[in-house]
Amino acid sequence: MSTDHRVEQARPSVPVSGRHATAVAHPNIALIKYWGKLDEQLVIPLVDSLSMTLDVFPTTTTVRLGPAIGTDTVTLNGMPAAGEQRRRVIAFLDLVRERAGSTEAADVETRNSVPTGAGLASSASGFAALAVAAAAAYGLDLDRTEMSRLARRGSASASRSLFDGFAICHAGRGSGDAADLSSYAEPVTVPEFDPAMVVAMVDRAPKAVSSRAAMRRTVETSPLYPAWAESSRADLAEIRIALERGDLEAVGEVAERNCLGMHATMLAARPAVRYLSAATLTVLDAVSDLRKSGVPAYATIDAGPNVKILCHRTDAAHVAETIRGSVPGLSTVTAGRGPGARLRPGVGE
Ligand code: DP6
Repeated sequence: MSTDHRVEQARPSVPVSGRHATAVAHPNIALIKYWGKLDEQLVIPLVDSLSMTLDVFPTTTTVRLGPAIGTDTVTLNGMPAAGEQRRRVIAFLDLVRERAGSTEAADVETRNSVPTGAGLASSASGFAALAVAAAAAYGLDLDRTEMSRLARRGSASASRSLFDGFAICHAGRGSGDAADLSSYAEPVTVPEFDPAMVVAMVDRAPKAVSSRAAMRRTVETSPLYPAWAESSRADLAEIRIALERGDLEAVGEVAERNCLGMHATMLAARPAVRYLSAATLTVLDAVSDLRKSGVPAYATIDAGPNVKILCHRTDAAHVAETIRGSVPGLSTVTAGRGPGARLRPGVGE
C-alpha cells in the first residue's frame, strides 16, 4: 500500500488501445447493516454500517479508454452486460468522466468469481474495482476517502471494500454536497481480531427484488424501520467496543441481532420483502444449535437467502461441516479477512 494513502495510480500509457487499468476488489459483509438511503441519486446511506472485507470471491475489472471506441462497452464474465447492470456501470463512468473532464468512451471488462446479484456482495466488489480502475484510467488522483466516496456512488456497500479487514461507512448528514461529503468509509483498525466467515451458498440465483428497490420500499412503508435505525446506532457503538476487545461472541451477538432486525423491517414493509427462504431458516437453526453445543457461531444475511457465519478460525471446519449437513446439497466457502481494493501491479503501464 502506498504510504501517502493514495490509491496506487496506474501510470497510464497511450498505446494503440488507449490508457487502461485493472483493479481487483473483494466483497465485504456488513456486521452492522446499511439499509435505507438519505439520497437515492447520490447513493447516501441513512445509517452507519460496519463490515469485514473477505479474502474470497474477488472481482477483477479492466477499464480501457481509446479513441477507437465510440460508445462504452460493458462485459460481465465474458458476456455483454444488459439492462440495469449496464446502465449503472455507464452512469458511474459518466461520473468519473465529468470529474476528469473527459469525453472518452471506455471498454469495461469485469470478472466476478461470486454469483452476481445473489446477496453475496457482488455489487460491493464490483463497484470498488470499477472505481479504482476507472479513476486510474481517466487519471483521477484520489486519496482513499475520496475513492470510497466515489465507489459509494456505484453502490454504498462498495465504499467499504476499499479497505482491508474492517471498515465503517458513515451515514450522510444534511443534504446535497454536504451530505455527499459526509458519507464515506474508513478503516477500523483491529489487528488482533481475525475470525473466519463461513459463507453458506443456499441459492446462487439472482434475487427477485433488488436491494435498491427493497430498501426504498422498507424506508417508505415499514413501521419498524425507524426503530431499527435507532437501535443500529447503539449496535454500532457496542460492536466497536467488542471488536477492540477481540471478543468474537459479543461481536457475533450484536451482528446477528442487527441483521435479524433489518430483515424484520423488510418483513413489515408493505408489501413485505422476504429474502429468507426455508433453507435460510434451517441454516439459522443449525447456527443456533452450534451455539447450544458450545461453539460460538453467529449468522448474518444480506439481501438474499445466503447465510454468512462468523466464528473462530479454529472452529471454521467444524462449523462449515455442520452447516453443510443441515441442508441437502448446500455448499460452503470459508473466508477470512481480505485486502482492500487495489490496482493490479504491472497493468496499465
Ligand atoms: C443488505 O450496497 O448493494 O448488503 O447502495 O443501493 O447499491 P446500493 O445497495 P447495496 O446494499 C447492501 C445492503 C446489504 C447490507 C450492507 O452491505 O451493509
